[in-house]
Amino acid sequence: LLWVVAYDATTGKQVFCMFYVNKVTPSSTEFIFRTERKVPRLGVMLVGWGGNNGTTVTAAVLANKLGLTWKTKTGLKKANYYGSLLESSTVCLGSSPDGEVYAPFRDLLPMVHPNDIVFDGWDISSLDLGRAMERAQVLDWSLQEKLWPHMSQLKPRPSVYIPEFIAANQEHRADNLIRGSKAEQVAQIRRDICDFREKSGVDKVLVLWTANTERFCDVIPGVNDTAENLLNSIQMGREVSPSTMFAVASVLEGCAYINGSPQNTFVPGAVDLALQRGVFIGGDDFKSGQTKLKSVLVDFLVSTGIKPTSIVSYNHLGNNDGLNLSALQQFRSKEISKSNVVDDIVQSNPVLYRPREKPDHCVVIKYVPYVGDSKRAMDEYTSEIMMGGTNTMALHNTCEDSLLASPIILDLVILTELCQRITFCTQDDPVFQGFHSVLSLLSFLCKAPLVPQGAPVVNAFFRQRACIENVMRACLGLPPQNHMQLEHKMT
Ligand code: NAI
Repeated sequence: LLWVVAYDATTGKQVFCMFYVNKVTPSSTEFIFRTERKVPRLGVMLVGWGGNNGTTVTAAVLANKLGLTWKTKTGLKKANYYGSLLESSTVCLGSSPDGEVYAPFRDLLPMVHPNDIVFDGWDISSLDLGRAMERAQVLDWSLQEKLWPHMSQLKPRPSVYIPEFIAANQEHRADNLIRGSKAEQVAQIRRDICDFREKSGVDKVLVLWTANTERFCDVIPGVNDTAENLLNSIQMGREVSPSTMFAVASVLEGCAYINGSPQNTFVPGAVDLALQRGVFIGGDDFKSGQTKLKSVLVDFLVSTGIKPTSIVSYNHLGNNDGLNLSALQQFRSKEISKSNVVDDIVQSNPVLYRPREKPDHCVVIKYVPYVGDSKRAMDEYTSEIMMGGTNTMALHNTCEDSLLASPIILDLVILTELCQRITFCTQDDPVFQGFHSVLSLLSFLCKAPLVPQGAPVVNAFFRQRACIENVMRACLGLPPQNHMQLEHKMT
């Protein structure tokens, strides 16, 4: 029996159509998963290394590696990886007579430990990471003092700066630049990747963009619609954003590339190139605070049968990201990235929503220097409940932005590296293959998940988490977690 909700075009009234489908045949396909168990020494190159996220994630890994503790006015603090799905959350493996058995994600499969990651990267600002960490104003000063001797040794490589892509208010930072044509700049990035790989002795390099949000790029036939056209455009010096130039250089070097910002780095030509070369790409935009909560809350409301009708989100922040986003075109990139997060959840429930009906959804971002990296996110969710009633929830969320984004950066690179070691085959197609180049498994960590063409975009938080959990369980030979707990429901 199949229900279809249709609409009468003249009256706008709902028409429920009921079809009897002759036969629905369940089918099953057996997959065999294989995970290469040798964990490589991983190098991560950050674009925007001298920014708040870049310095914070580097400092956090150093502090954990060195086992640092530091004093604050509320007592002694110890380095940890709270906020990392892999390092600090657990998976229920099953139940035993003594109760349920939980294991940390990190122990399910052999994977890189964050303490072992070697960092390098680029920034248009020449400050060493010690001074850049001080500029970021994220970590307690007593911790910064302990990290200073290590952080001040690290210096970002010069980078590509095309002023029109980021806000004009960033110009004063741009004193560390790769000169030359676009083709020469891409060649230099490729040389940097090789240089890092060689000098650091790492087995594998991943590149992640955590630099300023850029404006969107127009997708133009003949310019960036195919891999060939994109490569030609770089040679000819046509419009290609710095983030796309980094993506192209990484893919050409066989390095996975992850985009932590909202802009459309992955123009069709960049996706095409990654597909041709069989290299992972992932993104877009770290899902750290307000959007993460939205993908939980709307999932909860809609899946309990409550109908969100209006979602209004205000943000104010005072870090350099906020300053960059105070320019219209860069704000627009963020607004687009934040706007589609409830779509799949709404579309999943035709009982509550007509086709194409969506809740009103408004996002406001303001730059308020005083609050620094301590972003405030205020949201109002209004929903229709039973019999014409209304339910309104107002939330105030203080997000220390870079401390929320840093563990997400670690999860992104560790998961990507793990996925590079997973292959699978089916009974029908016994040749082992890896995941699609567009690594949608990273959706859990991204505000605007990039998925293979034609694949459904999943924003709903618990479905995204279940995806990672169940893929890992499959690699272990365990069935997907179904939460039926039948063993406890028998008399
Ligand atoms: P930030 O402004 O502190 O750091 C960005 C760094 O990128 C700066 O040091 C800047 O000099 C550098 N930069 C700009 N253009 C560059 C280029 N072409 N090449 C190399 N370096 C370049 O910003 P923050 O707070 O570290 O955020 C970084 C990005 O992550 C932003 O785009 C932000 O929207 C995004 N993001 C951050 C989240 C968070 O912090 N919770 C959440 C979601 C996304």
